Amino acid sequence: MSQSRFAAIILAAGSGTRMKSAMPKVMHPIAGQPMIAHLLQALEPLQPAATVVVIGPHMNDVVRRVAPAETVVQDPPLGTGDAVRTALRVLEDRIAPNGEIDEVLVLYGDTPLLRSETLAQLLAGQKKAPATILLAGMRPADPGPYGRLIPAADGGISRIVEAADATPEEYAVGLVWGGLMLVRACHIIELVDALDRNNAKSEFYLTGIVRLAADIGLQSRAIELPAEEMIGINTRAELAEAEALMQWRLRRAAMDAGVTLVAPETVYLSADTRLGRDVVVEPNVTFGPKVTVGEGARICSFSYFEGASIGAGASVGPFARLRPGAVLEDEVHVGNFVEVKAARLGAGAKANHLTYIGDAEVGARTNIGAGTITCNYDGFNKHRTTIGEDAFIGSNTALVAPVTVGDRAYVAAGSVVTRKVPADALTIARGQQVDKPGRASEIRARLRAKNS
Ligand code: UD1
Ligand code: CA
Repeated sequence: MSQSRFAAIILAAGSGTRMKSAMPKVMHPIAGQPMIAHLLQALEPLQPAATVVVIGPHMNDVVRRVAPAETVVQDPPLGTGDAVRTALRVLEDRIAPNGEIDEVLVLYGDTPLLRSETLAQLLAGQKKAPATILLAGMRPADPGPYGRLIPAADGGISRIVEAADATPEEYAVGLVWGGLMLVRACHIIELVDALDRNNAKSEFYLTGIVRLAADIGLQSRAIELPAEEMIGINTRAELAEAEALMQWRLRRAAMDAGVTLVAPETVYLSADTRLGRDVVVEPNVTFGPKVTVGEGARICSFSYFEGASIGAGASVGPFARLRPGAVLEDEVHVGNFVEVKAARLGAGAKANHLTYIGDAEVGARTNIGAGTITCNYDGFNKHRTTIGEDAFIGSNTALVAPVTVGDRAYVAAGSVVTRKVPADALTIARGQQVDKPGRASEIRARLRAKNS
């Protein structure tokens, strides 16, 4: 059970018009996971008493992604204030004094770079000097479209003015709102209910509650938090900017944990990438979602991974592709132009060149020669290839699945294996070599005569 007494509301119902996308804005990925997942991850350690995500109609993928967080549909999207009002309908009964919720933390689904520590700082700020509304302020280099925090005589904030509605003096204010606020639960409903739509966009702006609070003598205050964590993503260019910031955060964390990134600016990580100590990553490597690498492994240039596990001391690439379900145990070597999918390579196994291993099991220390292909697909179904330990698969072998190769077997180069290879056997499954002495010169002479 959560000990905390705050509920989190995440707004994600906006149509994200400026993204020009068929996909909801909050589902656009940063470091391999949707923006909304980053926010939920940052919230998690703070254990909100409840989390409600406000979505638009037909956003089932968001519902699935945020579960078990509750979702509520706002339709039509009439603005951020209306979105919070929609969420409050499901929280109403849990608000003090009837319920356990004292504060409501409002987050915007398009600010995915917020860290837990920063959210905790806002919550702590409220404990230190309580205000009806505590706003996360920031001073970005370019305050551009953000809402301006207009100071009050008492040192607090008297109102937030949207950039589009600001006078030149208001527009010049450098302290802006980062899309994060903490509101005393006992006041939030009356404040949000009092909002109107008298503004440039004819929407219920959540930001309007600051002025409404001031009007009835309730105080709002701002604390300044890091601007680079509150970048709001409205366009693809801002998405790319956030991606770049997140990549540096992940790269720095990896290096701090003992990973060598030879050229960090060329390595792309996912939020869930796990790299062990003394892993070395050469330039130009992409880690898609769900990849783990064990201690001391070496990842050579131009490799691309997703859903893969790489064991300690393994060596992978250059130009290797590991797809979901690839499991390389310790000390495995996978070389250039090798693709592995849904396959386990046992400890010390090697596939050094030009190979496809899909839906397969490869035993420890087995050597897979250049050009080997597991023929796993017949146009309808996938079939498995199982290779034992200490086996040797000669170059350019086609293993037509389903098929098994026993421990210590030898498969001759150029074989097309369609039946079980017994353990310890030598299997040759290729056309026989026929030599016709002198025939080459005869042919050459004949062709020369014909062409002269
Ligand atoms: C908003 C703030 C601005 C602040 C900035 C911080 C308002 C009116 N303005 O501007 O002061 O500096 O964020 O990033 O709040 N949403 C809904 N339902 C709606 C409308 C929006 O759920 O009806 C959601 C959006 O999906 C989005 C979030 O609310 O996740 C913010 O909306 P957005 O349109 O991006 O607001 P900004 O113009 O960026
Ligand atoms: Ca925004």
